[in-house]
Amino acid sequence: MRRTVIAGNWKMNMTPSQTAAFIKELAPCVAGKDACDIVLCVPYVDIATAVEAAKGTNIKIGAENVHFEEKGAYTGEVSCAMLKEIGAEYVIIGHSERRQYFGETDTTVNLRTKAALAAGFKAIVCLGEVKDERLAGITDEIVSMQTKLDLAGISAEDLKNVIIAYEPVWAIGTGLTATPEQADETCGVIRKTIADLYGDEAAEAITIQYGGSMNDKNAAELLAKVNVDGGLIGGASLKVDAFTAIVDAANA
Ligand code: 13P
Repeated sequence: MRRTVIAGNWKMNMTPSQTAAFIKELAPCVAGKDACDIVLCVPYVDIATAVEAAKGTNIKIGAENVHFEEKGAYTGEVSCAMLKEIGAEYVIIGHSERRQYFGETDTTVNLRTKAALAAGFKAIVCLGEVKDERLAGITDEIVSMQTKLDLAGISAEDLKNVIIAYEPVWAIGTGLTATPEQADETCGVIRKTIADLYGDEAAEAITIQYGGSMNDKNAAELLAKVNVDGGLIGGASLKVDAFTAIVDAANA
């Protein structure tokens, strides 16, 4: 069966010292809760500290983005080799905030995903519809198209290291959550698209997370759905008690 993955996306929050203190507090709360993988994706400058703090625990560390070129004149960007050397194991790619504020497209998401997989990372590829697309009734078409474009040229073997995060943009940071039924249905559309591209076995095996105001109150209901294999959590991943409660829901 596919793995449930509970991952925090810290976005632009936490300094290195806050990172160390957070993980020290979190580690005993989630120790032994191994029915899910537990990941914290943190700002670049916090990664080395986070990796050190998470040593000997069941918490894995990831980055929030990565560039697709190996090196060169790309001011402000960070390469796969840099992230590897400091011990990151996961990379979020194509988050809607990257698409919305920093000009990322399905093309750059695809390039970054390919680079991350070639470098041996687990890639958490984010996609999801905006509010107008849901209201227009074209959510299924949008997520299906994004799945195809974001994964173009990725082999079935490399797909084993891909996690999809379905994040309806209207639910991110808004306190609005997709209903468990909406989350299940749209994750199901993504799974069907994967089946069309890679076959039923690959579709059954891939982890598809839900993201968008998942918290300690709604996690159990969302995670109970057959097509929801975990969460990508923003705000609630910044609080030890809330994040622990979500891990508990995945272990119930
Ligand atoms: P919130 O949980 O704060 O809505 O953020 C979700 C998200 O964007 C995770 O990547």
